[in-house]
Amino acid sequence: MEILAYPHKSLRQVCEPVVTVNAELREQISEMLALMYDGEGAGLAASQVGIPLRVLVMNVTGDPKKEEHEHVFINPVIKNRIGGRTAIEEGCLSLPGDFGKVIRFKRVKFQAYRPDGSIVDATWSGLNARVLQHEVDHLDGVLFIDRLKEEE
Ligand code: CO
Repeated sequence: MEILAYPHKSLRQVCEPVVTVNAELREQISEMLALMYDGEGAGLAASQVGIPLRVLVMNVTGDPKKEEHEHVFINPVIKNRIGGRTAIEEGCLSLPGDFGKVIRFKRVKFQAYRPDGSIVDATWSGLNARVLQHEVDHLDGVLFIDRLKEEE
């Protein structure tokens, strides 16, 4: 497994919902986490490694020792975007060296499954909300460069 770089066509794929979290997918999730930490990223979506499924991993600290910030979400759905919008600089492991200010909502209410089948139903703000929106975009084939703030 490797992180695919733009303009690989996998990055434009709309990913399919996960039906079963089997042993193969668990192994792929472990590899995704390792690649994310190796790349010093805060998140990674399955489409970035050529897997067309709605799976993302994230850890806003980028630190594998801070497990409490590590999240694996299956079939995440953003239910509500709230709190207004803000422009913050983002990068992406599939676009090394590229950065740009992206407008996103400050808070998101979302639902997702964890690999053990439990449901997450939460409202996030701050960096967690930012990374979650970036990664969910990936699952729909959307990249941050599609959302760059226009020059003022
Ligand atoms: Co990205």
